[in-house]
Amino acid sequence: MAIGLVLVMIAHLALFVWSVTAARQGLRELNSLSHGRSLASSLSSSSYSLCANMVTPWGYACEEHKVTTADGYILGLQRIPASHSGQQASKPPVLLQHGLIMDSVTWVYNQPSQSLAFILADNGYDVWMANSRGTNSSSGHTTLTTSDAAYWEWSWDELVSYDLTATVQYVNGVTGQNLHYAAHSLGTLMALAAFSQNQLVNSVRSAVLLSPIAYLNNLPSFLTRVAAETFLADQIYWLGLHEFSPKGPAVGTLLNNLCSLSSALCGNLMNAFTGQNCCLNSSRSSVFFRYEPQPTSTKNMIHLSQMIRTGKITKFDYGQDGNMNHYAQTTPPAYNMSSIPTNIPLYLSYGGKDELSDVKDVQQLLAKLQNHNSNDLVVQYVAQYAHADFVFGVDAYQVVYKPVLAFLQRN
Ligand SMILES: *[C@@H]1O[C@H](CO)[C@@H](O)[C@H](O)[C@H]1NC(C)=O
Ligand SMILES: *[C@@H]1O[C@H](CO)[C@@H](O)[C@H](O)[C@H]1NC(C)=O
Ligand SMILES: *[C@@H]1O[C@H](CO)[C@@H](O)[C@H](O)[C@H]1NC(C)=O
Repeated sequence: MAIGLVLVMIAHLALFVWSVTAARQGLRELNSLSHGRSLASSLSSSSYSLCANMVTPWGYACEEHKVTTADGYILGLQRIPASHSGQQASKPPVLLQHGLIMDSVTWVYNQPSQSLAFILADNGYDVWMANSRGTNSSSGHTTLTTSDAAYWEWSWDELVSYDLTATVQYVNGVTGQNLHYAAHSLGTLMALAAFSQNQLVNSVRSAVLLSPIAYLNNLPSFLTRVAAETFLADQIYWLGLHEFSPKGPAVGTLLNNLCSLSSALCGNLMNAFTGQNCCLNSSRSSVFFRYEPQPTSTKNMIHLSQMIRTGKITKFDYGQDGNMNHYAQTTPPAYNMSSIPTNIPLYLSYGGKDELSDVKDVQQLLAKLQNHNSNDLVVQYVAQYAHADFVFGVDAYQVVYKPVLAFLQRN
């Protein structure tokens, strides 16, 4: 889930706005039922558990795990180890990685028959759900708190080099098995970037990339581009904010500015950012608003904005001097998509209406993968889908997950 532009991120931001109306209604109902105080305490972070909120109510077993990255972030992982009927998983682990400004609620959002995590569990897989640093389940750190500026000093480079590495190693360690990786949006870039550096290739059986994010220079979404420009133009201002919280006032200001540019687009913000999603269930939007969107770092948003502007996939650009300090060269090192080992089984699904993972950008990625073993690359084009349909679409099982299950079975 992620973009604003910058991509993915903002997409998710837009998801958030989409749900505001329904959520306000929901909040009004909640407030009339209970005092604000008791509501707040029942949701206190010590008692918050994604398993308890989103998984066990459907009758599935769920375990909360913690893994600490090499740079001290304490990440929460949820595991669904058995099917609804209680049958222990007999197939390999699948690690699910959400996109920008989202968390693992992504995979358990709709009803079990429509949500990928439950579908995988019911098909015998050992399901693990990752949460990127900064999200609710992953807001711990060995020495820092989320109020420290240093806590937010990262972009997706660190999600690749620390979070992804740590979670994959952890799942390998607990299960003793190599895993399938399945991701949406920014989570796809994490894997592509890792593979391009020859990382994780010996621990991953295959990768399912839904609404893949790699090149971003063809983003057609007007609002996404404007937002990206806003981040770049006001880098100093934005970096001073450290945490990019879609529920915070800074983002409200950004949205107000965008809306004054185009009130027509603003009327349907979600679709203005992500493309016209065909298949979302509008009566789930209060659930969405309750858990999403999640914070990320402002630096991550700026990194994505840089990609929109340059059309390149590189590490974070600190400017010439900063790059010398960080990388001992004046330009940021590139992630070379053509260096992805040609024998990693990939399932790549992209949508004709997706304005964050634009068709031309995906084709540019596919051109870089042209030497990939043809037996190890499945490409699916879903004409009617936009960015959010791949994870929240009520028909995603029929359209995407069924062929994904067949792909996993083969690999
Ligand atoms: C996690 O979510 C719960 C429930 O929405 C909330 O009360 C809590 O403050 C959140 N914790 C963090 C660290 O964001
Ligand atoms: C949409 O969500 C509502 C509420 O969760 C559910 O009752 C309904 O069956 C869903 N509709 C579809 C088409 O899945
Ligand atoms: C990217 O990798 C491919 C395949 O290894 C190589 O041929 C190409 O020169 C690399 N491109 C750059 C810019 O390094």
